[in-house]
Parts: sequence; C-alpha cells; structure tokens
Amino acid sequence: MKIGNINIKYPLFLAPMSGVTDQPFRIICKKYGASVVYTEFVSADGIIRENVKTLDMVKFDDFERPIGVQIFGNDPDTVAESAFNIYNKFKPDIIDINFGCPVPKVTKKGGGSAALKNLELMRKIASNTVNAVKDVPITVKMRAGWDYNNIIINDAGIILEESGVKAITLHARTSKQMYKGSADWNMIGELKETVKSIPIIGNGDITSIDDYKKLKKISKCDGVMIGRGSLGKPWIFRDIVSFIKSEQNEKICLSEILSICFEHVSLLKKYKSNKVVINLSKKHLSYYIKSFNNSSFYRKEIMKSETIEEIESVLKSIN
Ligand SMILES: Cc1cc2nc3c(=O)[nH]c(=O)nc-3n(C[C@H](O)[C@H](O)[C@H](O)COP(=O)(O)O)c2cc1C
Repeated sequence: MKIGNINIKYPLFLAPMSGVTDQPFRIICKKYGASVVYTEFVSADGIIRENVKTLDMVKFDDFERPIGVQIFGNDPDTVAESAFNIYNKFKPDIIDINFGCPVPKVTKKGGGSAALKNLELMRKIASNTVNAVKDVPITVKMRAGWDYNNIIINDAGIILEESGVKAITLHARTSKQMYKGSADWNMIGELKETVKSIPIIGNGDITSIDDYKKLKKISKCDGVMIGRGSLGKPWIFRDIVSFIKSEQNEKICLSEILSICFEHVSLLKKYKSNKVVINLSKKHLSYYIKSFNNSSFYRKEIMKSETIEEIESVLKSIN
C-alpha cells in the first residue's frame, strides 16, 4: 500500500489518540507491528503560536517513521500555515487533518467533526493545506457524518479526492454517536466504492484478527487503523502481520507481556517528566494486567503505589 509516494509495509495504522499516543506508546506499537503511527492531535493555533506543549507533542524519533502528525483547526489558512510550519520544523512523513473529533470543546469552535456539517469549509481546509505543503502527503481522518440523518461519506469523499488529499481514514460512526453503539463497517465499503484514486483506511472497533478479516471482507478497504484495541495489547499489530504473512496466530505468553510492561515503563521514564510517569504508568499498566491471573489484586497494588519504584516492584512480583 502507498500513501502518496510513501511505501507502507503492512496496511496497519495506530490511530491517533489524545492522551495515549505519546512517544513511548508509539514506539511500543511500532516495535510490535504497527506500520504507521500518528501523534495525538495538535491544535493548528497552538502550532502557529509556538506553544511549547503543542510543539512537544509533535516530537518523534526516526524509529517511529513513517509517522503522521495530526492537526485540527477551524480556519483554512491557519490549518494550512500550521501544516507548513510542522513540515519545516519536524519533517514528518504524513500530515493528517482531523475531521472526526466529536468533543464539544473542539466542535463548538468549528474544529474536528464540525466540518462534517460544512463541506465547503472541509474543502477549503483540505485544499489550502494540500497547496501549502507539497512535499508530504496530506491525509484526512473523518467520521461518517454529524448524525444518522446527515451521512456525508460520498460527498465528503469526492470533495477530499478533488482537494488532493492522499488517503482518507473513516471512523465508521457519526459525531453524535461519540463512542456509543458499534462502528458500521458497511459505510467504509461505501466510501471505498466512491473514492477510487486514493487509499481508504477503515477504523472503528477492530480488536482482533477476526475483526480485521471481517472489516477487509465487508469494505475492501486498503488499510486498517486500530485505536482502543491496542491499549494494553500493542502486539495486536504483530498478530495481524503474522496472519497476513502466513495465516498464523501465535499466542503471546505472559512473560512477554510482562517484559513489554517493563519496557513501556522504562520508555515513559526516558521521555516523560517525573510528574507524569506515575500516572501514565498506572493508566497503561491497568490495561496490560487484564491478561494476568489475579489482575484485580495487581491492579489495586499498582493504583495505590506512590513511586515508580513501587510500581516496578509490583510488576516484579507478578508470576
Ligand atoms: C482516548 C482517545 C483519544 C482519541 N484522540 C483522537 C485524536 O487525537 N485524533 C483522532 O483523530 N481521533 C482520536 N480518537 C479516535 C480514535 O482515533 C479512533 O478513531 C476511535 O477510537 C475508533 O477506533 P477504535 O475503535 O479502534 O478505538 C481518540 C479515541 C480515544 C479513545
């Protein structure tokens, strides 16, 4: 699969997730099979104002390539200028525009999925950004519409293709749905039918090899993006790669999961300030330890830990 002129080895993408897809988690997912990873979304305004926190969220290592930086904003010129600045400063492989975020804080100002209600705005944001950055592919991630009475997959698909974006990811829910109900993979198939010249990446509720197979069969999408299914289970990408290569499913053993837990904590220590390492370790480990016997006991022990050393000693006690 190709996005613009970037070769993608296996069509498996780690979804951008705010508060989750920081550098440590991206490195772990990359190591365990994701072909392309994305930053958390960053505000186009924040980039232009050179807000330090925003710029920090865009930093990445070469090991993470190909990597996409995702931006959101409501003003076509601002989004285009921020994409130009990101390209100049960081040289990512892909710049992705967020037309999917349903959070009122973002949509009230016209950002994220608000563009699903205003396709002319969507067109301007996409085409201004494509015109501002010639050297990396601009892609889009969107939902299927604002609500079920206003599904805009086909119109948006045509507009985005005409605007020159190089791939579209569809999270097959409406904005109103937030994360409720289930993703409707038929809608990904509908978009794939409409948009012929660029890859379509399907997203929503993929948590296993079986889901991957079903989504590919139903929609014929080119790539698959996984978000929540990778939490505490980053090897989901490796599982799907081995299915693609040899139709095999190797089951991960508990000792490997434990070693990934240590690896994740050690990456958090490397990349994050002391202040946040403990909370982020607790957040991620509570997902990993679901696979262990006695998980509720270990979870409680981790949650009541006050230092990173205490957390590591709980991990050491797991057998
Ligand atoms: C905690 C969290 C944060 C998210 N942040 C973003 C984001 O920054 N940008 C984005 O496009 N989507 C974001 N999403 C949506 C995911 O990328 C994805 O579209 C959605 O979770 C559905 O896929 P999944 O079922 O594989 O998780 C977020 C989702 C979650 C759960």
